Amino acid sequence: MAIRKIMKLGEDVLRKPCKKVEKFDLRLHLLLKDMADTMHDADGVGLAAPQVGILRRIVVIDVGDEHGVIELMNPEITERSEEIQTGREGCLSLPGRQGVVSRPMRVTVHAQDRHGKPFDLEGEGLLARAICHELDHLDGRLYIDVMDRELTEEEIEGHIPEDGEEDEE
Ligand code: NI
Repeated sequence: MAIRKIMKLGEDVLRKPCKKVEKFDLRLHLLLKDMADTMHDADGVGLAAPQVGILRRIVVIDVGDEHGVIELMNPEITERSEEIQTGREGCLSLPGRQGVVSRPMRVTVHAQDRHGKPFDLEGEGLLARAICHELDHLDGRLYIDVMDRELTEEEIEGHIPEDGEEDEE
């Protein structure tokens, strides 16, 4: 188990677009393992490669449901519901902060698995939110760029009217 250092807001690598994954080799598989370990160690529900300093289109997500750890290489959102969810969102690269962010309630993502095989995944609720949040990282976008508003320290501790779920992504 190898825990990698999580890049924090202010590091250039979080603001750069990532390149496509082209090699689905052992090195990728080791990185995926480290990313999952790092995400779990930090109690996050998602982690994107630039958050560990790697500018490749790689995301891991684990919202604690039946999917387990989801690995997405070169993911693209192909469908978004018109229905919107509004709730709190955090990010392991911005510790101690949260915002209210509106996301589609459901999305479909097209991606490749660790062997390069294409697949489609549908996500709803927290999973849809995590997919949107993590894919934004691949283009150097953070939730603070798209949030409705930032939460105060008091609100982070307590509950907000729109509160749907509590998650650090
Ligand atoms: Ni994040």
